[in-house]
Amino acid sequence: MTSLSDIRSTFLDFYARAGHEIVASSPLVPRNDPTLMFTNSGMVQFKNVFTGMETRAVRRATTAQKCVRAGGKHNDLDNVGYTARHHTFFEMLGNFSFGDYFKDEAIPFAWELLTRDFGLNRDRLLVTVYHTDDEAAQIWKKVAGLTDDRIIRIPTNDNFWMMGPTGPCGPCTEIFYDHGPGIWGGPPGSAEEDGDRFIEIWNLVFMQFEQFEDGTRRDLSARSIDTGMGLERIGALLQGKHDNYDTDLMRALIEASAHATSADPDGPGKIHHRVIADHLRSTSFLIADGVMPSNEGRGYVLRRIMRRAMRHAHMLGAADPVMHRLVPALVRQMGAAYPELVRAEALIAETLRLEETRFRQTLERGLRLLDDEMARIPEGADLPGEAAFRLYDTYGFPLDLTQDALRERGRAVDVAGFDAAMTAQRAKARAAWAGSGEAQDARIWFDLAERHGATEFLGYDTERAEGVIHALVQGGAEAGSAARDDEVLVVVNQTPF
Ligand code: SER
Repeated sequence: MTSLSDIRSTFLDFYARAGHEIVASSPLVPRNDPTLMFTNSGMVQFKNVFTGMETRAVRRATTAQKCVRAGGKHNDLDNVGYTARHHTFFEMLGNFSFGDYFKDEAIPFAWELLTRDFGLNRDRLLVTVYHTDDEAAQIWKKVAGLTDDRIIRIPTNDNFWMMGPTGPCGPCTEIFYDHGPGIWGGPPGSAEEDGDRFIEIWNLVFMQFEQFEDGTRRDLSARSIDTGMGLERIGALLQGKHDNYDTDLMRALIEASAHATSADPDGPGKIHHRVIADHLRSTSFLIADGVMPSNEGRGYVLRRIMRRAMRHAHMLGAADPVMHRLVPALVRQMGAAYPELVRAEALIAETLRLEETRFRQTLERGLRLLDDEMARIPEGADLPGEAAFRLYDTYGFPLDLTQDALRERGRAVDVAGFDAAMTAQRAKARAAWAGSGEAQDARIWFDLAERHGATEFLGYDTERAEGVIHALVQGGAEAGSAARDDEVLVVVNQTPF
């Protein structure tokens, strides 16, 4: 069986032979984009190269990029464990051209790698192109000999890739694998496209435009290529599995979880092991990249993921902290490809151990409270928001952890009630502050914190960073602008200071 590690190096070596520099994955906390919570695709580190703001010595690059999709626009957290292909952490394999080659080379590269090096059956492959992209359709026909019915034209944004509301973008072509009529599902663009028969394995983006906030678009001076293929997906395919969690790497982590909890990896606790395996990866890589658990911003996303995993370990009957004991298994699997994991191994284990020890002090009591509440409310009713808030406030249960716990019982939380309880508590805190005799102008910090959240501290990991200015404060009041020599306080979303 070809391991995920072998597949990763086969990909990188293929592009290295074709003149691409193998560039290391960038950190999960983006350095060049203060609006993005986590790196969520391979192109993030090259964003400014595509727009022409930054130049690199090389015009061809290839990467295996660490990605987290657990906060912000791309958020897969709620589905993890319950589906075959959702992860909070995954690796994206990609090749990039910065104003060098374009479609006519990117497509043949991809076809050659898939059908020759990876040995995929060409009769199982089909593609989509943006509906107006005749050029891409022609190249597919010529290079791969695909018939028209296997080059599907898609008129929607599915085939026009944008990183967000602004930034470099362009039409794309996606490559799909057909698992055959034995599995339910229809080709892309059909009513049954969400089935499991046709699985997208690779997205090739033809970077051509830059999108601005006011909705306008300009042509990029250099047309470029950005491709992305999920390692876990192609790995499952090449290992003859249908589920990413059955690949060698994920399976090793599931076995480690089973060993540490003495619970059958394929028994009734199967979902718990899957969640633990996934969350072990995202939490460990986030800590290795300088994120620490906290109650704000990225640190709170990390804490939410950690605590979710810890509840799942508890559900498996673990009496003591478990997560830190799984770190060596992860380092064995991924440390060679990501040396930062080896360097941070002790820090990761200690952070997990401390957090789990602390959370276990309230976890059990919180779960008991949850049971009591559920016993009191009518069959099928939502958990009252006030109870979910008490779990959050007193027992350290993030809202999504409570939701995850209720999901197993087919119940939900009254989220509007939770939000109302949160707002009421904030108002109380504000009143207490105002009443304590502090300067009246301190109120502005409450307003700003409520509107924008706290400023995130990046100083554990970097001494330089970009930030988004949220507000200017002058003389205790918010100012719309500042002139030369004015003395103002600048509130940013993140800072190393
Ligand atoms: N940026 C594209 C994606 O995320 C290709 O890498 O799918």
